[in-house]
Amino acid sequence: MKPVKVGLLGLGTVGTGVVRIVEGNQEDLSSQVGSPILIERIAVNNSNKPRDIEVDPAKITTDPWEVIRDPEIDVIVEVMGGIDGTKEYILEALDRGKHVVTANKDLMALHGSEILAKAQEKQCDVFYEASVAGGIPIIRTLIEGFSSDKIMKIIGIVNGTTNYILTKMSQEGASYNDVLKEAQDLGYAEADPTSDVEGLDAARKMAILGTLGFRTNVELHDVSVSGISEVSKADIAFAKRLGYEIKLLGIAERQDEEFSISVQPTLIRTSHPLASVNGVFNAVYVYGEAVGETMFYGAGAGAMPTATSIVADLVAIIKNLKLGVNGLKQKVPYKQKKLKSDED
Ligand code: NDP
Ligand code: HSE
Repeated sequence: MKPVKVGLLGLGTVGTGVVRIVEGNQEDLSSQVGSPILIERIAVNNSNKPRDIEVDPAKITTDPWEVIRDPEIDVIVEVMGGIDGTKEYILEALDRGKHVVTANKDLMALHGSEILAKAQEKQCDVFYEASVAGGIPIIRTLIEGFSSDKIMKIIGIVNGTTNYILTKMSQEGASYNDVLKEAQDLGYAEADPTSDVEGLDAARKMAILGTLGFRTNVELHDVSVSGISEVSKADIAFAKRLGYEIKLLGIAERQDEEFSISVQPTLIRTSHPLASVNGVFNAVYVYGEAVGETMFYGAGAGAMPTATSIVADLVAIIKNLKLGVNGLKQKVPYKQKKLKSDED
């Protein structure tokens, strides 16, 4: 049983969770895939930083290229974030025949088509379940679970940080800035939390969900975005008095062959299931022509829920390796989209 060797780019909130699950569940994981899974190299920014996990210092480098170019590494797990440099690392890893798991929605929303096309060319897997809704397996569900159906609508609370902020403002009357700081301390927020609070993180996730759900190439500029930074405690209290909660909703709709996608703070009746999705939890409602209404719920951010999705991707890649079928799921859109806004 030759071990499968993993190169980890990033050992922050999510990377630490990945090490914990791979090491803590090693026996079960290796019996599922038929090989030990070893995290062989780890790239970080600052090798002297104190960490709340113990790793062999010999595995650590501050140069991600060392990990990418290591011929022993079979799979790269990218949890460092960033766009341009990270794209180069991933494309080079694929050129070298390595498979990739990433949690990077910024990258996948902007350059997903190019990365998936390269993966297909190189017969490699690129899996990105953790990029949307943390621990909820929504990407797999859209690609596989609903392959038989025509998705008409996707509504999501897909950003944990903003949902955490809105919940605390609504339930405890907490101040926006205090709760944002708490969400950062808990590891929910992005390195630059502007992308959370201004709705861009949710827009990136909705672009990914729209692309997969509608089987078309939704791009980031197709999503109209407004965030929660202008939502005040008074707005939330007033909405409550009228029987509503305010939630940052992503709404993607298909009408005939046209699509519209937006992210905005939205009033939801307190009796609606989405109104009781609180804290860091996310929920994605999917309406399919045949299946009707479905809804998926779970933690949308944080170390362990996010790492659950990443390690599940890793397991899927290793199973594909054993079967020799890597790259078969990488086919990407599909056909030119027609957005409602094109006609406005
Ligand atoms: P963190 O900031 O906690 O961790 C980033 C890690 O990457 C750190 O270990 C950092 O090193 C390392 N790093 C950053 N830049 C470089 C570089 N140029 N070279 C080498 N190492 C580098 O981020 P998160 O773990 O929170 O997020 C990682 C990714 O996962 C992001 O794409 C994020 O959007 C995504 N994600 C995050 C979720 C969450 O709940 N936090 C949920 C879903 C997705 P050092 O430790 O030395 O600073
Ligand atoms: N910052 C993101 C959020 C992390 O709060 O949802 C999970 O993608």
